[in-house]
Amino acid sequence: MGETIHIGAFISGGGTNLQAIIDSCENGNIDGKMAFVGCDKPGARGLERAEKNNIPSFVVDYSSIIKTYKKDPDQIDLPDDFDLDEAISKQSFFPEGYDPEKIKAFLITRTAAEAGLLKEMKAYPYDLIVLAGFMRNMTPYFIDRINTDPDNPRIMNIHPAILPSFPGVDGYGDTFRYGSKVGGCTVHFIDYGEDSGPIIGQRCFPIEPDDTLDSIKKKGLEKEWELYPSCIQLFAEGRLETVKETFTLDNGNTYQRAIVKIK
Ligand code: GAR
Repeated sequence: MGETIHIGAFISGGGTNLQAIIDSCENGNIDGKMAFVGCDKPGARGLERAEKNNIPSFVVDYSSIIKTYKKDPDQIDLPDDFDLDEAISKQSFFPEGYDPEKIKAFLITRTAAEAGLLKEMKAYPYDLIVLAGFMRNMTPYFIDRINTDPDNPRIMNIHPAILPSFPGVDGYGDTFRYGSKVGGCTVHFIDYGEDSGPIIGQRCFPIEPDDTLDSIKKKGLEKEWELYPSCIQLFAEGRLETVKETFTLDNGNTYQRAIVKIK
């Protein structure tokens, strides 16, 4: 038997993954309890699911923070313990040579929003954070405040593609347009990059000649609703171990990566 974990979820949209997680906590497929639902968009439909299930929820309006920054960067409130240079050196969303002003704007606005999330989260105990259709990248500031033990990450994300293919905002769309013959979804722990963290689980499905983007999304979501709860349950059972592996390639170079081992 696993322990009962407290799960905080972040959403941006309809929240069907959130619903699958809520249902799995109810029916015993996850030894867990929902602690809170956080959201970046006022009025997101998934917030109704939280309300119906008596789960506390809160919203931090990312768009309004981004608009304020564009008008007057000095109006942005940043937490006292934020260090921009540290965040710049840790993040790996942006390729080398990317416009430094854009990187700075991204880190400042997202960190300001994340400070708002962290303030709201203080009211609730949580063991695990799940990003369930949360369409915002978390910065090093937020990640470091949740992953206080770097060997035991505890922010999961579900992505609508078989990573490392098709990271970014439109996994199923990118899979479809590329002409892939299989699609799928991935649950992973997040790291400082975009959809680049250690993989916990994946599911795939065939893409047939008569599939459309809509039918691919439908097939994919059905897989997501199975995969996410099963990965969360592995976490609840204490069966996920993240280890740093070093591989030596045939040409003598080494390749390092954090890998999730399922015990
Ligand atoms: C899901 O397909 C999820 O994989 C995707 O958004 C959808 C949310 O659906 N997430 C991402 O693209 C994250 N970058 P839902 O709100 O019904 O759970």
